[in-house]
Amino acid sequence: RIRRRELGCRFNIESFTPSFLSIYKSLVPADEEIVKQKQLLVSLRKLVNKEWSSAQLHLYGSCANSFGVSNSDVDICLSIVDTNMSKSEILLRLADLLQKDNLQNVQALTHARVPIVKMMDPVTGIACDICINNLLAVVNTKLLRDYAQIDERLRQLAFIVKHWAKSRGVNETYRGTLSSYAYVLMCIHFLQQRKPAILPCLQELEATCVVTIDGTRCAYFDQVDRLRNFGVQNNESIAGLLWGFFHYWAYYHDYMNDVISVRTGRLISKRVKDWTRRIGNDRHLICIEDPFETSHDLGRVVDKYSIKILREEFERAADILQYDQNPSITLFEPYVA
Ligand code: GTP
Ligand code: MG
Repeated sequence: RIRRRELGCRFNIESFTPSFLSIYKSLVPADEEIVKQKQLLVSLRKLVNKEWSSAQLHLYGSCANSFGVSNSDVDICLSIVDTNMSKSEILLRLADLLQKDNLQNVQALTHARVPIVKMMDPVTGIACDICINNLLAVVNTKLLRDYAQIDERLRQLAFIVKHWAKSRGVNETYRGTLSSYAYVLMCIHFLQQRKPAILPCLQELEATCVVTIDGTRCAYFDQVDRLRNFGVQNNESIAGLLWGFFHYWAYYHDYMNDVISVRTGRLISKRVKDWTRRIGNDRHLICIEDPFETSHDLGRVVDKYSIKILREEFERAADILQYDQNPSITLFEPYVA
């Protein structure tokens, strides 16, 4: 099957920018929601510090990386150092404290890949997952938030891509498709690759933020207010960028050989990373390097069935942006099996 299509961007693609922008605006959470999330965090801090006085709570994931749509779950990381308790014991004790404080649907998932306590706050209706000592996620959350501040087109693109992925059922890691985190990295990488570039590569600039977590050094330039004009040479807007994003993943990405890498701002070769064959459960059929845990492929969840689904969805989206009369509607039509 010939995948690559030699097509120019549809001549009137930019005329769809206003409708994509209004979808983007409708997805952004209202200020009240952010206030409620902060209030929940404050009350949880009080509760946790009564039990573990030096423990800290950090928001991470989409409620803190600025890529959260309204009514997302809140992800919280409990950081505890001075305790002899195991992770499972901490989770069970935490679940107990939350239950006694009248939080609802409290559930400790001690055997999950990332063990968490799930709960719901009946006052705000916010659902929340709490994990233990997952500080790498807190740092990659900050990296994503910093990238988002450089150019507003990143948030616009990522919100629309996440909304598309959720509507089409391809944002479900337990079924072999990609996480929201993976989609945001794909968007960052795509904007680093535009000519002229819309985003810089923060890990290639002089490091102003350096932390080492579990032996992994995380270092990058985080003074992003000094980079606000970075993308001004490029005047593409959201409809054209969406067109480019989906055409790249449908017809141009070299799935056999390439890894996308936000860390280097470039494509790197699968051979260099030894990601050319299946190792254990990691199949490396689509390769997205984690910016800090560089041995971690966020595409590892994708298997030989879901890669087909994913690529067909990229092609569908690319073709809609090329030919459809109402791309801002058709793109998000729910997938029905
Ligand atoms: P939504 O909840 O879908 O809006 O997005 P999210 O960014 O919160 O994504 P998700 O709940 O899937 O992941 C939460 C956070 O965990 C991410 O933002 C990352 O900071 C972190 N994370 C680190 N490694 C991984 C990984 O391998 N998979 C996923 N899913 N998340 C990771
Ligand atoms: Mg989340």
